[in-house]
Amino acid sequence: YQLNVAEDAASKGTYDFYMLKEICEQPGVLRHLDQFYLDQNGKPKVSAAIIDALAKADKLYIFAAGTSYHAGLVGKLLFEKLTKIPTEVGFASEAGYHFPMMSQHPFFIFLSQSGETADSRVVLQEAIKRNIPSLTLTNVPESTLAREANYSMALEAGPEIAVASTKAYTAQVAVQAVIAKALGEKMGDDAAAAFKLKQNLALAAEGIEQVVSNQEKIEQLAQKDLIPSRNAFYIGRGIDYPVALEAALKLKEVSYIQTEGFAAAELKHGTISLIEKGTPVIALINDPLTADLMRGNIQEVVARGANVITIVNKSLAQTGDDIILPEVDYFLSPLVTVVVTQLLAYFAAKDKGLDVDKPRNLAKSVTVE
Ligand code: G6P
Repeated sequence: YQLNVAEDAASKGTYDFYMLKEICEQPGVLRHLDQFYLDQNGKPKVSAAIIDALAKADKLYIFAAGTSYHAGLVGKLLFEKLTKIPTEVGFASEAGYHFPMMSQHPFFIFLSQSGETADSRVVLQEAIKRNIPSLTLTNVPESTLAREANYSMALEAGPEIAVASTKAYTAQVAVQAVIAKALGEKMGDDAAAAFKLKQNLALAAEGIEQVVSNQEKIEQLAQKDLIPSRNAFYIGRGIDYPVALEAALKLKEVSYIQTEGFAAAELKHGTISLIEKGTPVIALINDPLTADLMRGNIQEVVARGANVITIVNKSLAQTGDDIILPEVDYFLSPLVTVVVTQLLAYFAAKDKGLDVDKPRNLAKSVTVE
């Protein structure tokens, strides 16, 4: 995987929009991250200074905004699974002025594609004042957040031009998995040692290729079920919940279809009153523990007239499901699931005739609080 930065940034090549180009680059990004951050045997190559600093923490605090925040929600699950260190995720914009209660030995992780988000910088400045160690994961190694934190690691996703973030999200999830595995192994965690990151990054890259090669089907779903609707819902449980939040953000930001992501069982505690005949509800099912409950939640909305699209892991699929996802470790399943939702958003926007790469009112990097 070779990324020619100058040429890449300058040209969309044969793609209609950067967003589609960047979606399609994701298998390459994951393969590159494998080379960059894992050795031949799958051992993480992360600076010892970073891992030593992280190993002293009794709690991790992840701060970010937008799509990066959603990547952090997946990161929390990875860190807690592989290191057993309690991890909290916060909106930088909130933490800056309402600083969360600190543990004895906090460690801050900033996730930022651009490395320039003003809201995150406020929190970092406060961390510096309080002597809290910090690490920035960013796609722009020379950025402000990278320079000002104690440590930084590159996302290595290549330039992301479309305002809606896609490949930076998958890179953030993958790099957090690398760090979680490295840290867990250092701490002697069995789950970290057993976590087959290298194999699963390869499976995820192949899985994304399969999803991308199925894009006609995804475009049909977007045209038939999403474009005619003013609103939509994503539902998921377990690891699919944070993915539902990101999927909803992606769809609404580029297509202007008002979309909310929900922990599937929460819908019935209020929001189900919004379901009408034909309301699209997109269900993400990767969690074996709650797959049956998800089917029940689907029945609840179908009974109110919802038009359900199911995006389901192969191992949990039933006849009639719409999109079948290839098998990847549960904790890395967001890498593949999210790509279906990125494509649904892309086609909903493109086939509405919208400027996919530059949605109204949005900026790629937000340097005001
Ligand atoms: C802006 C962008 C989003 C992005 C967010 C955080 O709002 O439009 O796509 O997720 O900023 O940006 P960052 O560069 O910190 O990841």
